[in-house]
Amino acid sequence: MPAVSVIGLQWGDEGKGKIVDLLAGNADYVVRYHGGNNAGHTVVVGTKKFFFHLIPSGIFHKNTTAVIANGVILDPEVLVAEMDTLIKEGINLSKKLIISPRCHLILPYHKKLDAAYENARGKKKLGTTKVGIGPTYSDKVSYNGIRVYDLIDWKDFCSKFEFQAKIKNKILKTFGVPPVNISKSLLRLKKLRTRILPYIKDCFEVLNDAVRRKKKILFEGAHGIMLDLDWSPYPYTTASNTIVGGINTGSGLPFKSLDSVIGVVKAFTSRVGEGPLPTEITGRLAVALRERGGEYGTTTGRPRRMGWLDLEALRFSCKINNVSEIVITKLDILSGLIDIKVCTAYMLGGRKINYAGCGYRELARVKPVYRSFPGWIEDISEIRTYSKLPKECRNYLEFIAKFLDVKIKFASVGAERNANVKMK
Ligand code: GDP
Ligand code: IMO
Ligand code: MG
Repeated sequence: MPAVSVIGLQWGDEGKGKIVDLLAGNADYVVRYHGGNNAGHTVVVGTKKFFFHLIPSGIFHKNTTAVIANGVILDPEVLVAEMDTLIKEGINLSKKLIISPRCHLILPYHKKLDAAYENARGKKKLGTTKVGIGPTYSDKVSYNGIRVYDLIDWKDFCSKFEFQAKIKNKILKTFGVPPVNISKSLLRLKKLRTRILPYIKDCFEVLNDAVRRKKKILFEGAHGIMLDLDWSPYPYTTASNTIVGGINTGSGLPFKSLDSVIGVVKAFTSRVGEGPLPTEITGRLAVALRERGGEYGTTTGRPRRMGWLDLEALRFSCKINNVSEIVITKLDILSGLIDIKVCTAYMLGGRKINYAGCGYRELARVKPVYRSFPGWIEDISEIRTYSKLPKECRNYLEFIAKFLDVKIKFASVGAERNANVKMK
């Protein structure tokens, strides 16, 4: 390993949580470096299911330290709730969790602003998770953010919070939204602050020292490449860079220290929220796939939109991230389909067009070129050896690997840690 990154190559919810948890068994550090609690990563340990929104998914392993690095934005309420869940599980966080003082805070007015903008957009809403992501990152880049660092000096924090909240309340008023109660919010934040202070530590030194000592570091991407702020069809994006470039800015790890990038690819496509989805499936098939796959948002509970695998978009994801290996997840969910389609190219106005060449208007109009594969009927969720997979299933995997010019590390056929098919 030394430093490996795991990123979702589609529109999110590829199964990153499961894969990070699995690979973290071999890691000294697991690092979140961007996004906030808009992420919802599921980890299944034995009969228990955990949902991580902020704390890195690999924390269950005995020797792993979880790092929330500077690129992450933190909602103190969500952080403390997640910490409490882990403490109840008997995890001694004081030895396992560190939080960068550089992380910006998601504060009550950010959540209200996120919802207010979405409601005001009406039919043109973006479908955000309404947990305050866009407003917090925009405060960060406009020098109006308040950081974990600011929690250290409570008097200073209060004056910054009051200044910002008063301005935000004026904006909320124009939306007809009730203001944030400043004194109540500060009372609550003061309590949360005492829970967070013990974990604040400079992550830059920790990670760079880990590299020097040849420790193993696993970077946990959130949200999926097709939601990248710069590289997906704006404004149908999230507010952080989901591409591997986010590791350098979001954790301070020098680029040359990153050894490999493992892409997580769901065997079909899903998306929550608005925005173009070229291979979208509707009707009975979509309902069947959604129900079989449990395709409901981990953060918001919204039904996920369904689609066929989009290799045109994935080719872009592999290129921009220099992906060397992929893991295919939820292969078990495709069992029973007579015909499985894969998009190999986009056509627009009779011409081929690449994913990167599309803005949101083009992407909404492209016609996918499909290749069909015969499906398989067998339940594959108990299979662990490649040669035992149905021939049709192997053909599907081999086509994907060849098309994307990547190696498949393994295929996942169930939510549990060990439900994986080793490749030949
Ligand atoms: P993430 O955001 O990428 O971590 O993914 P989510 O946790 O939001 O959604 C993935 C869902 O699929 C979760 O409920 C996982 O427990 C589940 N899951 C992951 N891998 C597999 C798999 O191979 N097969 C099945 N059936 N479920 C899986
Ligand atoms: P994980 O890490 C799926 C989507 C939202 C919305 C858009 C902008 O679990 O894969 P935001 O709240 O970020 O401002 O919303 O981004 N989105 C996700 N979709 N999985 C996620 O995370 C997502 N994080 C953000 O649905 O369309
Ligand atoms: Mg998710």
